[in-house]
Amino acid sequence: MAGLQGVLLGMGNPLLDISSVVDQALLDKYQLKLGNQILAEDQHLPLFKELTEKYSPEYIAGGATQNSIRIAQWMLRAPGATTYMGSVGDDEYGRILAAAAEKDGVRVRYHVDASTPTGTCAACVLGGERSLVANLAAANCYKTAHVERPENWAVVEAARVVYSAGFFITVAPDAMLKVAEAMAARDRVYALNISAPFVVEVPPFRAAFNELLPLVDYLFGNESEARAYAAAEGWGTEDVEEIALRVSRLPKRNGCRARTVVFTQGADPTVVAVNGKIQLFPVTPIAKDKLVDTNGAGDAFVGGFLSQLVVGKSVAEGVRAGHYAASVVVQRSGCTFPDQTYGFAWN
Ligand SMILES: Nc1ncnc2c1ncn2[C@@H]1O[C@H](COP(=O)(O)OP(=O)(O)OP(=O)(O)O)[C@@H](O)[C@H]1O
Ligand SMILES: *[C@@H]1O[C@H](CO)[C@@H](O)[C@H](O)[C@H]1NC(C)=O
Ligand SMILES: *[C@@H]1O[C@H](CO)[C@@H](O)[C@H](O)[C@H]1NC(C)=O
Repeated sequence: MAGLQGVLLGMGNPLLDISSVVDQALLDKYQLKLGNQILAEDQHLPLFKELTEKYSPEYIAGGATQNSIRIAQWMLRAPGATTYMGSVGDDEYGRILAAAAEKDGVRVRYHVDASTPTGTCAACVLGGERSLVANLAAANCYKTAHVERPENWAVVEAARVVYSAGFFITVAPDAMLKVAEAMAARDRVYALNISAPFVVEVPPFRAAFNELLPLVDYLFGNESEARAYAAAEGWGTEDVEEIALRVSRLPKRNGCRARTVVFTQGADPTVVAVNGKIQLFPVTPIAKDKLVDTNGAGDAFVGGFLSQLVVGKSVAEGVRAGHYAASVVVQRSGCTFPDQTYGFAWN
């Protein structure tokens, strides 16, 4: 497809996933809970060494935003349709991440912090569930000055859609605001994911999230993230549809376009709220024996959705592509995909 150069920009935390099958003793030692995702604190740092030395890990290109962008790129096919920015170290892990993105056709524009190692995410797998511990390291060193560099700002100006996972709020809220404001000023789309309950629970992150929200055209999340937001705001409801409607109605700076809220619920229907209306989109069930690994399903859903958004397709097409991409990813290990998008027809 022509005319797709640089249509989608993602900004986030580039992380190399260090994925190991572990035992309960290791989870207990570091007080990790399956299904949880946290930022590493000092007491978690030995975990990374222990995984490498005793649990023969796999090293996989990760980072929620970079995964979603790789998926969108895969759906769009045109090399260079997508760009990704984030901060890495000057090391082997950073080069592995860049190679993985570029192999998929994503243009990376990393900020390189030579004094800090590339960030990693320990994925401790037990019985098909995971506990994630992110050690942001160099990812935490992203600077607004990087996106302000003329050659990078040109990428922002060329993009029709900019997307970040909420995790980036802990690193670069000022850069996110600046980019979101630029998108609103030109009536282009800014999209954000809640990404994890802690993003809307920890007071300074929640404050930054709420400052960004008036500039957000599309907000993604899953049901537990939706409920975490409602609880943090003291809304007194756990009803995902009601929460979606309320979030869609919160003040918005660019009044020309209503906010669209998209909450996934695993195998249950995806909820979309816009213009005072709720739509439910059922998920095509996948037979249990075909489910390999549901981790990364959320990232893939967003990537599929964004691939339609950048070419001006409807929300229904976005959800269809999101469900398609997620269905491919849950039938494989990690956030991986085959060469072709067999089984997806562009409308
Ligand atoms: N069991 C399932 N069967 C079929 N599709 C699924 C299943 N689980 C997830 N999906 C697909 O993945 C999408 C996102 O799933 P979900 O809401 O579970 O994300 P998530 O829990 O945030 O994902 P992640 O594990 O990546 O954080 C769903 O909308 C659906 O398309
Ligand atoms: C939603 O995402 C959270 C991470 O924010 C994850 O722990 C949880 O399992 C997901 N919920 C469902 C029901 O898929
Ligand atoms: C983002 O949003 C999706 C779907 O709306 C959700 O399932 C997923 O957990 C979120 N993922 C991340 C890590 O950004």
